[in-house]
Amino acid sequence: MERRTFIKSSALALSALPFYGATFQDTPYRLALIGSGWWGMNILREAIAHGSSTVVALCDVDEGQLTRAKEEVGTLTSDTPTLYKDYRDLITTEQPDIVIVATPDHWHALPAIMAMQHGAHVYLEKPIGHTIAEGRAILNAARAHERNVQIGTHRRVSPHNISAMEFLRSGKVGQISQVKAFVNYNQPPGSPNPDSDPPPGLDWDFWLGPAPERAFNSRIHPRGFRQYLDFANGQISDWGPHWFDQVLWWTDEKYPRTIYSTGSRDIKNDGADAPDTQLVVYDFESFTLEWEHKLCAANQNESHNVGCYFYGTEGTLHLGWRDGWTFYSRNRDELPLNVPAQLNAPDHQNIKELWADFIQAIKDDHRPTCDVEKGHLATNIALLGMISYHVGRSIAWDGATETIANDPEASKLLSKDYRGEWELP
Ligand SMILES: NC(=O)c1ccc[n+]([C@@H]2O[C@H](COP(=O)([O-])OP(=O)(O)OC[C@H]3O[C@@H](n4cnc5c(N)ncnc54)[C@H](O)[C@@H]3O)[C@@H](O)[C@H]2O)c1
Repeated sequence: MERRTFIKSSALALSALPFYGATFQDTPYRLALIGSGWWGMNILREAIAHGSSTVVALCDVDEGQLTRAKEEVGTLTSDTPTLYKDYRDLITTEQPDIVIVATPDHWHALPAIMAMQHGAHVYLEKPIGHTIAEGRAILNAARAHERNVQIGTHRRVSPHNISAMEFLRSGKVGQISQVKAFVNYNQPPGSPNPDSDPPPGLDWDFWLGPAPERAFNSRIHPRGFRQYLDFANGQISDWGPHWFDQVLWWTDEKYPRTIYSTGSRDIKNDGADAPDTQLVVYDFESFTLEWEHKLCAANQNESHNVGCYFYGTEGTLHLGWRDGWTFYSRNRDELPLNVPAQLNAPDHQNIKELWADFIQAIKDDHRPTCDVEKGHLATNIALLGMISYHVGRSIAWDGATETIANDPEASKLLSKDYRGEWELP
């Protein structure tokens, strides 16, 4: 019998007790991290600080990342995690209760689904997948295996985002017909970096995994994969899921009906291939959503460089990051109202609150605040923008069936072929 099945059936047998959850237990959760890089370690630190888990395993295809992660865990705990290069060995050997998946986007679906198949709850980073089909497979696995999947869209638990939603719902912004989500960077134009041999200790073929074969480039790993379309979907799928999730939190609607995108990669010229400027227009039933990003054209005249503008009949609310939220009344005599952010170090996030929510959801056997379905819907908005960008025309989205009408070329981009032995379950 699988360990998870055993816990579940023992719990059911003890139904006279006041509480039984699918994974109720009074010992620390056996926690594993897959993808021990920048963000994975930010999550792991908060998981350790929460005190509910023992770190039993760390996994990375780069020995350098793994060694640094192990050293840091050694300074924070007395845990002695086993190190793995192959997440499949980790999952089958350790049978963890909880797995954090913080790999590059092209490596989200396979470890997350396998972890659930073996009974683990998963804290999975956004965007939930590299394609809409991957996101759907992750969501289906979560429901089939009755596992909790918390997506790392921590803005759902950020105090200033919560109070902004209350302000929007209070009617003080009036009727909102348009929302703009955006990010502006001020990066210098680049130049290509030559490919090279991978550094010692990095299994580059494993890092590529299901993605097409290509030579190593130090711009890609670590952290640079975001701007390479074989591994991610550029700025819109890096920042977009956070802001699209906020829009879905505000509206009762679940998806846009038509999507049009344009953009270019004319300025950055650094060997990557995601657009360095992009515009997307999404038609929802009751409002229009815009996405806009620029990597190399910050505007010092605009005070906010990232976030969402909710344009209402009584004024405009800017929902931001480090700058909290600000309401600009239509009445010019009224001073802007600002509510500051309350973020945690390092990197200005609210993972601590999201981790606590995740553990509580596991204990109480209910879905967490950033449940996988919300992550899927928010990620889909980003990925639909990219599909329209690729085909260069408007696409019509049927969110109920997750299909694109009358466009075989665009429909093909809902999924992708995997390289070699890798297969999406
Ligand atoms: N929620 C947020 O605010 C937030 C912020 C930053 C990053 N992220 C997300 O976190 C994820 C990781 O981003 P990052 O910036 O930490 O990248 P990173 O490059 O620093 O870390 C990713 C790690 O995964 C490892 N890896 C690659 N393939 C692997 C595999 N098959 N098995 C095990 N390890 C593997 C890499 O070697 C690397 O060490 C991304 O999906 C990103 O979007 C989320």
